[in-house]
Amino acid sequence: MENDVSKVLLTEAEIRAGLKRLAGELTVEYRGSDLAVVAVLHGSCVFVSDLIRLLPIPLTLEFLACGSYGEGTVSSGEVRLTFIPGAENFAGRRVLLVDDILDTGRTLLRVREALRARGAADVKTCVFLDKPSRRVVPIRSDFRGFEIEDVFVVGYGLDFAGRYRNLPYLAALKPEIYAARQPAPEPRG
Ligand code: XMP
Repeated sequence: MENDVSKVLLTEAEIRAGLKRLAGELTVEYRGSDLAVVAVLHGSCVFVSDLIRLLPIPLTLEFLACGSYGEGTVSSGEVRLTFIPGAENFAGRRVLLVDDILDTGRTLLRVREALRARGAADVKTCVFLDKPSRRVVPIRSDFRGFEIEDVFVVGYGLDFAGRYRNLPYLAALKPEIYAARQPAPEPRG
C-alpha cells in the first residue's frame, strides 16, 4: 500500500495538530449545546472518530450515506441520500454536519438542506479538507481542517476504488495506480 504513494501531503503529526485546533474552535462554538454530530459515510469515518474524542462536550453521533445519480463512472452531479438517520435524532437540536472533503460542494449543500428540512435547529458544517478551486455550487464550510490543491487524495478515511482508507496520513498516489483503473477516479464518498 505504501509503495503506491507518490507524495505524503499531510503527516500524522500535521493532521493531529490540525484536529486539535479544529476541536478548540468547535468547543468554543458548542459548549453548553445539545450537539448532534452527523457524519457522511464512508470518507469521514476516521476524521469524525478522531475529532469527537477531542470534544469535551456531550454529543450524539449519527451517520448518513449519499450516492450520485447517473450511470457507470460519469456522475450526473446530482446527490442522492441513500440513508439518513431518523429526524428524532437531530430535530430541534444543533447539528454539526461532518464530511471528509468539500470538493464541488454538491454533497454538503444537498445534505445540509435535507437536515434543515427535517427540523434541525441549526446546521453547521465541518470538513477535514477543502478544495476551494473545485467548487461548483455556492457553499463554504463553517469549520475546516486543511485547504488543499486540486489533487486526488487518499488516506485518513479517503479512498481510491475503496482502498487506502486505512493509511494514517494523507497522500497522493502514483499516476500508474490511477492509470491502471481508467477512467480517472470518481469520488465514492
Ligand atoms: P463534493 O463536494 O464534490 O464531494 O460533493 C463529494 C465527495 O467526493 C469525494 N471526494 C474525494 N474522495 N479523494 C477522495 O478519496 C479526493 O480527492 C476526493 N475529492 C472528492 C468525497 O468523498 C466527498 O465527500
